[in-house]
Amino acid sequence: MNRVITLDNPPVNALSFKYSEKILKEIEDAQKDPSVTSITITGANGFFSAGVDVNDFQKAWDPSGTTVRDVIEAIERSDKVFIAAIDGIALGGALELALACDRRVATKRSKLGLPEIKLGLIPGAGGTQRLPRLIAPQEALQLMLKGETVSADRALELGLIDEIVDPGVMVSLSNHPEQLAGGEQVEGLRKRRVSEMRVQLPATAQAFALPYIIAEAHKSVPAEESGGLAAHKLIDAVQAAFELPFARGLAREYRLFDELVASAPSLSLRHLFFAERELSKIPGLPPAEPSEIKTAGVIGGGTMGTGIAITFANAGIPVTIVEPNADQIGKSRQTIFGMFMHQVKRGRMTQEEAWKRGQSIAFSDDYAAVADCDLVIEAVFENMAVKKEVFGKLDAIVKPGGILASNTSTLDIDEMAAVTKRPGQFLGLHFFAPANIMKLLEIVRGKETSAQTLATAFKLAKQLRKVAVLSANAFGFIGNRMFFEYTREAVALAEEGVPPARIDAAMKKFGMAMGPFATFDLSGIDVFWHVAQGRPDLELARTPILDRLYEQKRLGQKTGKGFYKYAEGSRDAIRDEEIEQLFAELAKAAGVKQQPDVSDEEVARRIVGALIKSGEEILRDGVALRPGDIDIVWIYGYGFPPYRGGPMWYAQEALTHA
Ligand code: NAI
Repeated sequence: MNRVITLDNPPVNALSFKYSEKILKEIEDAQKDPSVTSITITGANGFFSAGVDVNDFQKAWDPSGTTVRDVIEAIERSDKVFIAAIDGIALGGALELALACDRRVATKRSKLGLPEIKLGLIPGAGGTQRLPRLIAPQEALQLMLKGETVSADRALELGLIDEIVDPGVMVSLSNHPEQLAGGEQVEGLRKRRVSEMRVQLPATAQAFALPYIIAEAHKSVPAEESGGLAAHKLIDAVQAAFELPFARGLAREYRLFDELVASAPSLSLRHLFFAERELSKIPGLPPAEPSEIKTAGVIGGGTMGTGIAITFANAGIPVTIVEPNADQIGKSRQTIFGMFMHQVKRGRMTQEEAWKRGQSIAFSDDYAAVADCDLVIEAVFENMAVKKEVFGKLDAIVKPGGILASNTSTLDIDEMAAVTKRPGQFLGLHFFAPANIMKLLEIVRGKETSAQTLATAFKLAKQLRKVAVLSANAFGFIGNRMFFEYTREAVALAEEGVPPARIDAAMKKFGMAMGPFATFDLSGIDVFWHVAQGRPDLELARTPILDRLYEQKRLGQKTGKGFYKYAEGSRDAIRDEEIEQLFAELAKAAGVKQQPDVSDEEVARRIVGALIKSGEEILRDGVALRPGDIDIVWIYGYGFPPYRGGPMWYAQEALTHA
């Protein structure tokens, strides 16, 4: 007789400590029943299971309590046949549970994966030992290193599952497991424990294959101290699967996992995981039903407008760009075409899909074209007078209830809202360049922005696959206000005689995706110069270097010179001694003491320190809701290293360990 055990722990059947206890008991009961010959484990609520409950790791991690490990060990001890019948997602600990079974079947829509690495962990319930035994070991390693989920089709190809079944079979499977594996009789279903299989190394040069695979894998991931800790431990665990008997390999995996749970990078990544889930919780906001954005308009077809339009097209929302300059329309069309063609070339999109998305972006030089849009985003020049004129026109044309938004980086949202008769349906939607790639979206709340408008914006962000963070309406919002302090400190160090190239190198060593001076050059010195003109109170505005570079037309990559030099058509920054001399002259004139012999750690400490101080001010002023919101902004918008958890988390950690 077959016994069905259904994972049913809404919403996603997470295998929490508590729930594991229940499943363990069900398995033990079935084990005791001599009439039971096979056990099918399946899931309710449209999922197999999303895996172990991440919340459980946040409590003091105590592997001596009941965990999915115990469930799996009970399966391993049992003399019955286990079948994992997967419909929907099977991730992490849940896939490890399935790996401990003798058969795995899945419906076509199922998605399977071991994403632990994304939280700075490794599979810790036998996954690192069973997966390399079940499928090609290099594939197993890659799957776990990338933490990617695979489709049922791919899982079948890899040998991760035995069969794809249709959902109807899934239902009856509960009572008729003999339908499995081409009608094999249930009595014929024998135990086939993955733990008893041997790792199959590539036939060629077996003796060399093993050390080679391991060495190459270690080389392919970042250093332990630069975000690669879990990756190296994962490779160690897989090496154990290659070299050791199952039980000893498993013991090693457990130990490595338990080490990682307490490691700083994993704590940081888990902090970000939870911070991301908090973002749309806005204390004090009355509940409101979001409306759906079915059509959108974008005013201005420049760099940002074009990127924003692509973002909407990618989300299946038709969009119209209003751009008065015919040349610019041509350029924007070309950018869009080039971007979609690139996706087709890389095999990420079919020709038809590219065509369809391209067709969903329309152009016009007439504002009337956006009259019926549910949302219109302005991305014209960063100039208040121009923006006010645009919103005056839009307010008169766009249908009542249509939301108006500005993509401004630094200007006052309320001042713009005031020229309209709909300040409740007005807000800032601050995308980051390139808008179709960067995940961050700052949602800027004006003083009259309604709860419904905010709810709609958060819902839209999800549709656009952006990570949205709420900011109050204040200069530079969250990210750029901090960025100005961050770059200001970098400039101060350069004035003290530390070469910009060294400062950038120190920040990259800290883990930033890019150094501050390289960022200046990428964004354009003129952009900062213009901001400085409007905000003479900014400390960055008081440093003479921006004026000098602006005068010399050293605007960054676009002019071939900025804080670095660039060869014609290249983006590779070349150290430029002229800049170091210029800093020296300016420092002399201002009487700045030269002290170039600071360590890389001191450079990072000062620059990150400035960032943290600015973050604290932002919290004090109520611009950001929570420290975690600031961390998310810096991770997704400015390339702060995720394994350090964001500036505010890092500050707290540094204090704790000081
Ligand atoms: P851009 O200069 O590339 O594009 C502006 C476009 O607006 C031009 O094509 C121009 O012809 C058009 N335009 C000007 N006046 C118009 C009007 N009255 N009606 C319709 N179109 C008009 O500028 P970019 O970089 O795209 O910036 C646009 C906005 O986005 C600015 O507010 C900027 O601060 C903001 N932003 C820029 C970021 C960046 O990295 N470039 C990042 C985030 C925000």
